[in-house]
Amino acid sequence: MKNILVTGGAGYIGSHTVVELINSGFNPIIVDDFRNSDPLILAGIEKITNKEPLTYKIDICNKEALEIVFKENQIYGIIHFAAYKAVGESVEFPLKYYFNNLVGLTTILECMLEFSIENLVFSSSCTVYGEPAGVKEVTENSRKVKPSSPYGNSKLISENIIEDTFTANKHLKTICLRYFNPIGAHPSGQIGELPHGKPNNLLPFVTQTAIGKHEKLTVFGRDYPTDDGTCIRDYIHVVDLAKAHVKTIKFLENEAEGLNDAFNIGTGKGTSVLEIIKKFEKISNQKLNWEFGKRRSGDVIEIYANAKKSFEILNWKAELTVDDAIKDAWNWENTLKKFNR
Ligand code: UFG
Repeated sequence: MKNILVTGGAGYIGSHTVVELINSGFNPIIVDDFRNSDPLILAGIEKITNKEPLTYKIDICNKEALEIVFKENQIYGIIHFAAYKAVGESVEFPLKYYFNNLVGLTTILECMLEFSIENLVFSSSCTVYGEPAGVKEVTENSRKVKPSSPYGNSKLISENIIEDTFTANKHLKTICLRYFNPIGAHPSGQIGELPHGKPNNLLPFVTQTAIGKHEKLTVFGRDYPTDDGTCIRDYIHVVDLAKAHVKTIKFLENEAEGLNDAFNIGTGKGTSVLEIIKKFEKISNQKLNWEFGKRRSGDVIEIYANAKKSFEILNWKAELTVDDAIKDAWNWENTLKKFNR
């Protein structure tokens, strides 16, 4: 059974990926320092899979500590999630973001070279496309722009660091997955997103408002040039996203030569903020308390994926719907209530 090192494996996307790796016969090894994740999630992984993945509580920026993991285990590939991800916070504390996200990545890459590990899957973001000029459906070849937040920029710089490392080490097999907007939770209700503090993202704020953690949701902006005046995103179920990582590892297993490539991981369909609210109200069978507010600075108006390349090369496509994701997110929010979270 191949060992896959999953940095940030106790986090939101990481934990769902660990489950799908186990389901597909891989042996995930988690590295996570739990600064933005919770041991509750490890218990959830175990309940779903009946397996307790080997877990190291390590900061990936600490190279000496990380080296121990590679010395103790033969690693086939790395899926690198561990990073800061709050857009607003990154504007306030850019150095915190650049340090953690870039030192983390370079430490991982150094270990790959040191321990002769070929395969890397990196969690990137559609933020590298900025605001699409003209057509809102982006392909991997769409123009990349400097993202408006240090968080986003750390993803673009990370892609460049990976590319340069590949150019100097052509035997490496490196893939950047550009996620669109991951939402939802595992349908079992055992794992999901556990945002520390007030969430920045739309769906966690919706479910938290509905359960009474916030008084109301503010919809940022009502006069965008879209059908209903609110921003449009490509919301993708986190389980579909997790499966994309497994497909990528399987693709790398069949590649003889080194490579560096990027793939869009989205559904290909855009949904507006108001549509998300309407869907939530229907699925949860309750009214949501919300109001229009000012635009949020840095928001892209409209973007969604062209995910043909992922289908053709990785044999991956989204199977679940936005409705499935909202249902699972709501189920997870209700589960959290039982844990007093
Ligand atoms: N929104 C609201 N109210 C809220 C929260 C969000 O109206 O309380 C709106 C936003 O203005 C936006 C949409 O909901 O129009 C989606 O916002 P999110 O914060 O959920 O997602 P973003 O598209 O802003 O950000 C996501 C990821 C980032 C990534 C970015 C790339 O969180 O990691 O996509 O576009 F960089």
